[in-house]
Amino acid sequence: MKSIDDAAYGAAAGDGNLAPAVEQLRFFNEILKWHADGEDELVFPAIEKVAPLAAKTYVHDHHEFDAMTAGLAKIASTSDALVAARETAALTAVLRIHLDKEDQLLYPLLRERTSLEEQTAIVGGMAAHVPPERTPDFINWFFPLLGHDDRAMWTRVVMGLMPEQVFAGVKGLIQATVAGDWAELTRRIPELDS
Ligand SMILES: [Fe+2]
Repeated sequence: MKSIDDAAYGAAAGDGNLAPAVEQLRFFNEILKWHADGEDELVFPAIEKVAPLAAKTYVHDHHEFDAMTAGLAKIASTSDALVAARETAALTAVLRIHLDKEDQLLYPLLRERTSLEEQTAIVGGMAAHVPPERTPDFINWFFPLLGHDDRAMWTRVVMGLMPEQVFAGVKGLIQATVAGDWAELTRRIPELDS
């Protein structure tokens, strides 16, 4: 989102060319929807059981995102760059606060108060929100953002859930994306190398 906001600001402050921001926005809106739908369906109900009321504030944020992304979806290359930059700046700030809150409060609660089986089901269910044809773009975006532990956790979960043939394709995508870090991933999950 920061990169989109920088592109929109660049357009507003410079030549008015919103094309780079618009191109990135299309994919980002999809990601945000997978994030929100996956959490609404799986994460918040799990939190509600172990920490009643804690999820409500996050649900509220997601409704705000719906309104904000609906506005952003209307931004085209021909839109007013200043209007676009104001909207991307607002979403960047709101999103940063939301994701920090989730990392610092929501996910630690989930880690502490749910079983590994429940967590596995949640990660698998979230992954299932990505349509198969969007998997290459998703992995390309997602894996560089993760540390070694989270890469191994996500890979293990989808490996256990996907049919072998489907996972073979995903494995190739992961390998190409993490490149030099593949050895570290196979050290953590030796079965990947078989
Ligand atoms: Fe969220």
